[in-house]
Amino acid sequence: MTTAMVIGTQWGDEGKGKIVDYLAARADVVVRSQGGNNAGHTVVVNGQAFALRLLPSGIMYPGKACVIGTGVVIDPKGLIAELDNFIAKGIDVGALEISDRAHVVFPYHVRIDEAEEQLKGAKKIGTTKNGIGPCYADKVNRIGIRIIDLMNPDIFAEKLRWNVERKNRLFRDFYHVEEFDFESMYREYLGYAERLRPFVKDTNYTVYQYMAEGKSILFEGAQATMLDLDHGTYPFVTSSHPIAGGACIGAGIGPHNMENIFGVVKAYSTRVGAGPFPTELNDAIGDHLRERAHEYGTVTGRPRRCGWLDAVGVRYAAMLNTLDYLAITRLDILDELATIKIGKAYRHNGEEFDRYPADLSLLDQVEPVYEELPGWQEDISGIRRYEDLPENCRKYLARIAELTGVPIGIVSVGPDREQTIVLAEVL
Ligand code: GDP
Ligand code: IMO
Ligand code: MG
Repeated sequence: MTTAMVIGTQWGDEGKGKIVDYLAARADVVVRSQGGNNAGHTVVVNGQAFALRLLPSGIMYPGKACVIGTGVVIDPKGLIAELDNFIAKGIDVGALEISDRAHVVFPYHVRIDEAEEQLKGAKKIGTTKNGIGPCYADKVNRIGIRIIDLMNPDIFAEKLRWNVERKNRLFRDFYHVEEFDFESMYREYLGYAERLRPFVKDTNYTVYQYMAEGKSILFEGAQATMLDLDHGTYPFVTSSHPIAGGACIGAGIGPHNMENIFGVVKAYSTRVGAGPFPTELNDAIGDHLRERAHEYGTVTGRPRRCGWLDAVGVRYAAMLNTLDYLAITRLDILDELATIKIGKAYRHNGEEFDRYPADLSLLDQVEPVYEELPGWQEDISGIRRYEDLPENCRKYLARIAELTGVPIGIVSVGPDREQTIVLAEVL
């Protein structure tokens, strides 16, 4: 048995989908273990782009077991739409497995998400408004509804009725928004239950069984380290645990089984949603990166904030995730720049430090200490061997590895499967 894991090291959208798609070719099983349809992973095959929200990116390989693990929150309507979209494109989704312990997202979660953002006003998080936070909140509050509940109409009716009544009181008396009708929601979700029933499994056991049979398992992270509920830029985070340890919990697998942990690092930084971003560029270079890379959210279409690579953040991610390799993506986006900066420390009140602070007001005020490197100013998108990359490009990569203390395992020079340079062969 061999395992590998793909983790975001920044604020998401690093290109995890592309790296998972590359590694999935060699894996027997692909497992998603946290997050929900707040994720948007893009896989490009022969120029055709596929967007994945809840489905593991391994679904692109027919017959490969794809598991939506216990730690994921599932919006059944969204999942079914995603399945139908793939079926219409002729992709076989028969090998999908959905954990019977995963929690279900309901329309009242989405409404709470919207209402909370509205209430926060200028202090809003900038969530994807998919009800992710409120669904995880119900789970932690032990009032959530799981896939297994959905499979039993009587148990489901009781739990849903209780939740709808309770949430309606909130909507009526606190948020002052429209209430929900239990009956229609119940019927709608029973329909989803029947559609999803064939895929529902006790994935804690199926994944264990795959491992016992010696199969290779790939864990697909969603979101990223800086969005981790505990270790990210709280409260500007998501409500799950995108770090490597989160995959143990969400997939129900012990830490001894986690190997080959890839941290995906975009060659620059982006963030969608609010919160501190020390190396953000509110200038022509930031605009250049956004337009050249088309940095607009896959899920919400919002423009992504762009900036230089922040090695302080990636080093923090390397530590929290025990990264074995870096996968550097979107390196080609930097092709035209004459010089490139890397943030390697922070400065505040004349003092320099290189740790990622918990204090967001401090993080908001720090000034990055930059190192400037010469650009390569040539098109690298057709290069397939590391030694063929321009010298300045290799120097940039070597410096990232040095500043973060993690060797580079994969370099991506374009969105397509083929545009990948592999230094570490795993699985
Ligand atoms: P994820 O959420 O981490 O899976 O990333 P997204 O799919 O949201 O965003 C990454 C975007 O970058 C997608 O549009 C990918 O097709 C694209 N992409 C991935 N790797 C590369 C690369 O090396 N170069 C370029 N130009 N695009 C890339
Ligand atoms: P992938 O997997 C980028 C951000 C939102 C917001 C915060 C909380 O594609 O990298 P939420 O809806 O989760 O409660 O929003 O987290 N966010 C992401 N940003 N990529 C993602 O996923 C994200 N998922 C959530 O923008 O700032
Ligand atoms: Mg994304």
